[in-house]
Formats: sequence, C-alpha cells, structure tokens
Amino acid sequence: MEKQRIGIFASGTGSNAMNLIRFFEHHPVIEIAFVLSNKSDAKVLVTAKEAGIQTHCLSNDAVSNSETLIELCRKERIDWVLLAGYLRKVPDAFIQTYATKIINLHPSLLPKYGGKGMYGMYVHQAVVAANEPRTGITIHYVNEEFDKGEIIAQFHCPVTPEDTPETVAKKIHTLEQSYLPLVIEATINNRL
Ligand code: GRF
Repeated sequence: MEKQRIGIFASGTGSNAMNLIRFFEHHPVIEIAFVLSNKSDAKVLVTAKEAGIQTHCLSNDAVSNSETLIELCRKERIDWVLLAGYLRKVPDAFIQTYATKIINLHPSLLPKYGGKGMYGMYVHQAVVAANEPRTGITIHYVNEEFDKGEIIAQFHCPVTPEDTPETVAKKIHTLEQSYLPLVIEATINNRL
C-alpha cells in the first residue's frame, strides 16, 4: 500500500511541523510530503528543507486561488492537509475538495478562544485576562467556518493565578509536542 501523504501548511516557527517530520520520518504508513508556507521568510521553510523535506512558498494571493492549491496538492498526491500555525483561511473550494481530510491545530479549548484574530499569543492573553482555570489544545477537522469543524481531540492543562501569557504558551507548546503526532497517526490509521 502506498503511504498516506500529508501536506503541512505553516506560517511561522514550525515547531509542530518539525515535530511531525521527525515523528513520521520512518513511519510505515504515513509520510510528510511537503511543507507549504505563505511567508517566504518563515523559519519553517528553512528547517524543513534542512530536514530533507520539500518546501513550497505560495503568496496569499496565490493561495486565494483555490485552483493553484488544489493543483499543487494533486500533483504531490496529497491525502491529508495539516494546518499547523497557518495564519490564513484556506479557500472554501479547497476545503470542499479535501473535505474531512484537512486538520487544524488550535491553541485553546474550542469553542472558547477561536475565530478570526484568535491565534498565537492573542489566545493566551485572552485566556489569562479571563482568569480561566484551564486551557489546552484542540485538533479538529476544518470546515468553511473558522475553528468550527468537528473536534477530533482536546488536551488540557491548568492555568494558575501566577501564569502569564508566556507561561501558558509554554504549557500549550508541551501539549502540542506530546499529542499532535499521536492524534494525527491515530486519525489516519482509523480511516484507512
Ligand atoms: C501553535 O501554537 C498552533 O497551535 C497554532 O500556531 C502555533 C504554531 O506554532 N495554530 P509553530 O509554528 O508550530 O511553532
């Protein structure tokens, strides 16, 4: 059987993309086909290339044309798309083409702290400002509504009065590094 091929979309540091690249390096069933970014200076493009992974950079304009994205993913025989810190909404026609095969990682317990403008430190600042007793990560399917697709898994951590947005970010990072690869692996295996 041919391996299931994942295209990772990322805009920033790419700690999750790199973690997935390492995790699936010698995997019997799943492989990372490429990392795509909308930012030419994204650190993830450099580190992924160093790890021997193919990279693509598509401007926001290019991505807004769903045909460009669909064509690229067809050419690369992509089975799954993972949004790991990808700071653009992918076009509806692309979501429909890859229906139920696009997964997003979000750094809060959705439906809390999701939607437009809720990304990165903005999420953790809002969580601390609201004195939330806990926060966490959500791994979910992507549909046409921002951060509203079916939830696959959530993992949580406590937020204490001493926490700052920065310390919360560290806790979230730990959850993401521990669980994202395992959830992706289980999700794909379950649907083979
Ligand atoms: C992660 O916190 C993820 O939950 C969010 O964006 C961040 C990306 O971090 N969607 P990195 O680029 O993988 O380090």
